[in-house]
Amino acid sequence: MSPLRLGLLGLGTVGQGVISILGEHSGLLEERAGRPLTLTRVASRSAKPEVDLLGASFGTDPAALVQADDVDVVVECIGGEQPCLDLLTAALGRSKSVVTANKALIATHGDALHQLASSSGAGLAYEAAVAGGIPILKAITEGLVANRIEWLAGIINGTSNYILTAMAEQGQDFSSALATAQELGYAEADPTFDVEGIDAAHKLAILAGLAFGRCFDFAGVATEGISGIAPIDIEYAARLGYVIKHLGIARFADGAVETSVHPALVPEGAPLAQIKGVTNAVQVGADALGSTLYTGPGAGMLPTASAVLADVVDLARGAPPPRRLAAAAAPMAADDRETPFYLRLQAQDRPGVFARITTLLSNAEINIDAALQQEHDASTPGTTVPIVLLTRPTTRPQLQSALEQLEGLADQVDDVQVLRVESLKP
Ligand code: HSE
Repeated sequence: MSPLRLGLLGLGTVGQGVISILGEHSGLLEERAGRPLTLTRVASRSAKPEVDLLGASFGTDPAALVQADDVDVVVECIGGEQPCLDLLTAALGRSKSVVTANKALIATHGDALHQLASSSGAGLAYEAAVAGGIPILKAITEGLVANRIEWLAGIINGTSNYILTAMAEQGQDFSSALATAQELGYAEADPTFDVEGIDAAHKLAILAGLAFGRCFDFAGVATEGISGIAPIDIEYAARLGYVIKHLGIARFADGAVETSVHPALVPEGAPLAQIKGVTNAVQVGADALGSTLYTGPGAGMLPTASAVLADVVDLARGAPPPRRLAAAAAPMAADDRETPFYLRLQAQDRPGVFARITTLLSNAEINIDAALQQEHDASTPGTTVPIVLLTRPTTRPQLQSALEQLEGLADQVDDVQVLRVESLKP
């Protein structure tokens, strides 16, 4: 069979990984694809003479690569919305198939790109955009195709999981754990994308769109980061039998999709609680199969390139793009969902303050499940002590009304931390 001719956009970490595997496994890939995979062109801002381009021609103009007649599939490893949107729109418009690792692009423009792909008959694949090398999109769209997926929950940003793990296991504070993650090269160019949940929200929008057959709705993901998590929260969560994880959660209920990224207390025995460091994992609840867990490296040169080339081989085999998106369901506000909540308050250490707090919660019909107050350490300056409460399941609006009343105790209580508790059960 004729070779499948690849044009690679980007010679960064992922692009170099794609070339590395293409060179290392050329025979194996040809055998599995049923035809040779030939890298004909590479385009990047600047040449990297140290990288063996496997005989491909090099240029600095990505638009020229997209238009070239000797490119059947455009493999985009640049990242970011532009110029990638224009480049991939041009490629699909010329009926060239596209493989991309670009989560921001698919989460935001995936529906339009899918429409273009289906009208031009080209393929559009993006396994590497979510959870790096873990074949989670394939699992959702192929392995679980006979199921109705009810919910999924993931640790889908390695940097934030690295930070929370370092805070829990090494006692680091947030800033120093982030600095280490940056030194190790895990974080995005703008680390707020990692720690404020934007990167995870991109990935969750793609997961939810495919799992529930709906539009990719990045803007609809309720997003909360981990920069407000203090070491004391991790310590108290552990005492109560939980670990704090930064989760992306999507549920399908009553015809609507609910998506949110937020830090949450997870029972220490739960599968996602075992996921440490930069490792990613996605747990999927499906009606016939039940709960399954997919875990592995969520970033990095070769893991991400592994997913890119899996898509390329699918295209070489002529596998039809498996996913067709339906109309959007109205997202359900994340606030509608009932869960237990963790509350940490800094309270004046004097008689009656604890009672006032619990009275306010009881007035709002919020039931307390567990309470912790540490004995005042005489060596600690100040006259406040932390109080930690776990509530029974309630909604955020109901909790909010109690918190507003707590503001009336501003002279006695401040620095209120509120986190959801996720049981991660159906
Ligand atoms: N910055 C991302 C992470 C890289 O930490 O997971 C992979 O998308």
